[in-house]
Amino acid sequence: MSLRAIVTGGGSGIGLATAKLLAERGMKVACLDLDPPGEPFVGIRADVTDDAAVRAAVAEAAERLGGIDVLVNNAGIGAQGTVEDNPDSEWQRVFDVNVLGMVRVSRAALPYLRRSEHASIVNTCSIAATAGLPARALYSATKGAVLSLTLAMAADHVREGIRVNCVNPGTADTPWIGRLLDKADDPEAERQALNARQPMGRLVSAEEVAAAIAYLAGPEAGATTGTALAVDGGMQGLRLRPTS
Ligand SMILES: NC(=O)c1ccc[n+]([C@@H]2O[C@H](COP(=O)([O-])OP(=O)(O)OC[C@H]3O[C@@H](n4cnc5c(N)ncnc54)[C@H](O)[C@@H]3O)[C@@H](O)[C@H]2O)c1
Repeated sequence: MSLRAIVTGGGSGIGLATAKLLAERGMKVACLDLDPPGEPFVGIRADVTDDAAVRAAVAEAAERLGGIDVLVNNAGIGAQGTVEDNPDSEWQRVFDVNVLGMVRVSRAALPYLRRSEHASIVNTCSIAATAGLPARALYSATKGAVLSLTLAMAADHVREGIRVNCVNPGTADTPWIGRLLDKADDPEAERQALNARQPMGRLVSAEEVAAAIAYLAGPEAGATTGTALAVDGGMQGLRLRPTS
């Protein structure tokens, strides 16, 4: 029987690449998004900050897919600035999407996951959870929370047969980064700086992150829970000598 997956933020970037890969591997996939994709996916419009909408969307996904085995908590938004720069309302808004969004969708999906033989949750975290990046105080705080939430959920649900892991992408070439570059004074210089920050000298692709998510989501990773898999061009683990 094919596995059934929900991908939040499945309308763009890493989420869409993940939805495509899971479908290629034979899973039935529902994408929850503010702007969901159509066929071959079950597209369901939902805002992860709205608990009632999330519950309805997860129930609809379970109904249309025939159950839920895999949840990919990927919807997220960015924020720029030091700890001085963002008003309380923005702190609350970004935590609401990036952290509480995962809480709401997980809470709604758990009753279905408990009935699965291959239950797995994968959260999209970030290099920002494990490395200090400049001008990303609020965003990094949300992803630090996602890393801790992943570990706590993995502990809470291991004896129910539900695995919980996360992926930590470095800077990934998605529409998100396109928007960020568009706002920069010198987009080409900004792109070069982002490339150079990763030891491989390039951005990570959405497909490379999707491959890591698909691995953790699937039964091949059946003994893996409570891990963070970096997909960051070496940014977290390597310390290179300067080239010149
Ligand atoms: N692009 C990167 O460099 C990068 C690096 C590390 C981590 N990430 C993480 O990857 C995830 C996906 O990012 P991406 O680069 O693919 O971005 P993206 O902007 O291309 O896609 C994000 C998707 O999430 C959806 N979304 C946003 N708010 C939502 C809400 N309230 N309810 C439902 N859906 C919502 C958007 O509509 C969009 O389709 C995010 O969690 C992000 O923090 C991205």
